[in-house]
Amino acid sequence: MLNFMASARTPSELPPCYALVWPGLEQVAADEISDWGGEVKKTSRGVVVFRSERIDRELLRLRTTEDVYLFAWGTDSLTYRASDLEAIQRWTARVDWPQLLRLHHAVRPRPSGKPSYRLVTQMEGKHGYLRRDAARALARGLAGVFPDSWKPAEQNASVEVWLTIDQATAVCGLRLSDASMRHRTYKQEHQPASLRPTIAAAMVRLARAGPGQLLVDPMCGAGTILAEQLAMDRRVRVLGGDIERSAVRMTQSNLLRLGEPDILWWDARWLPLPDASVDHIVSNPPFGKQLSHPEAIGPLYRAMIRSYDRVLVPGGQAVLLVSDAQALQQAIAAVRWKAHKRSHVLVLGQMAQLSVWRKPPRPDTMVKSVDNSSVPG
Ligand SMILES: C[S@@+](CC[C@H](N)C(=O)[O-])C[C@H]1O[C@@H](n2cnc3c(N)ncnc32)[C@H](O)[C@@H]1O
Repeated sequence: MLNFMASARTPSELPPCYALVWPGLEQVAADEISDWGGEVKKTSRGVVVFRSERIDRELLRLRTTEDVYLFAWGTDSLTYRASDLEAIQRWTARVDWPQLLRLHHAVRPRPSGKPSYRLVTQMEGKHGYLRRDAARALARGLAGVFPDSWKPAEQNASVEVWLTIDQATAVCGLRLSDASMRHRTYKQEHQPASLRPTIAAAMVRLARAGPGQLLVDPMCGAGTILAEQLAMDRRVRVLGGDIERSAVRMTQSNLLRLGEPDILWWDARWLPLPDASVDHIVSNPPFGKQLSHPEAIGPLYRAMIRSYDRVLVPGGQAVLLVSDAQALQQAIAAVRWKAHKRSHVLVLGQMAQLSVWRKPPRPDTMVKSVDNSSVPG
């Protein structure tokens, strides 16, 4: 079992929660959960476990998480052998489900009509048993928890119990969120390469733009990054553009209810903006496979970075999600930005690099603000 479960608990203490997050975003999500008031206890691939003094609908406002759950049990020592199934059943049977159900109903009131439940089992990795065997073990552990009058349902169930297995790690709990946590209501129009909202939210959090600052997405596609910034803090000024008129129209439509910022038809390689006028650039340029000539990625990144360097204020920051980290590194070498953070995120079925860069400050301030946090390329 997760080691924090062994710690002393007062009777009034609430059970932990956990969030499932897009792999690669664990740290950003943990930071958001901490800012929200949660105490992060553990992160593992795709999972952030935390405690909170309150469990209410406010939890559903987290933006970098795919789903949040009440924690029933967890382990990071599955054996991959069939004996795991007996353990899954045993751990599930030991949980105080009535307490979890009471807390669940406070966040997600029961829908009218006959109560229903859904059991979901996800499994990654090569185990000596099948996903459906794990699902059955979960069901056996839950025997007697739901009254006979509750019916299994595939959609709109009153309660969902999830078991998520990833290699030797497993977490099990009651889902508090619904699909609206990861699919935003602003997304009226979609572009095939449009970014996952939770990843866009993570990029915006990494930028940390302040009130009055200008944040630009020069290749805005369907406008997901700009929408996440506006949803997070409207005091930040946002501006976007795209080389495709259809993308400009799509972003305008998606941002209609979020303040209607200026969205321009432009080429990011020659941004029609004054020198040193932008505080933050947050963007995901097209991936190589999205270009008719994938070899054009190097020249595109070089021209784009030259243009971004011109418009960024000294000390300004860029948060970039790219498919070709090496081409980006080569383009950035010419402008001498410093990398602050790098992580890897799976996007459109391929590993992409998420990185935060800082343009050097003005020469006269450089001595005073040597940046120890940067990591060498
Ligand atoms: C991966 S998509 C961006 C997705 C966007 N972040 C979203 O959430 O929908 C890349 C976008 O870059 C645009 N693009 C490609 N080359 C460009 C250029 N030179 N200037 C401006 N936009 C460009 C494409 O039209 C496409 O909409």
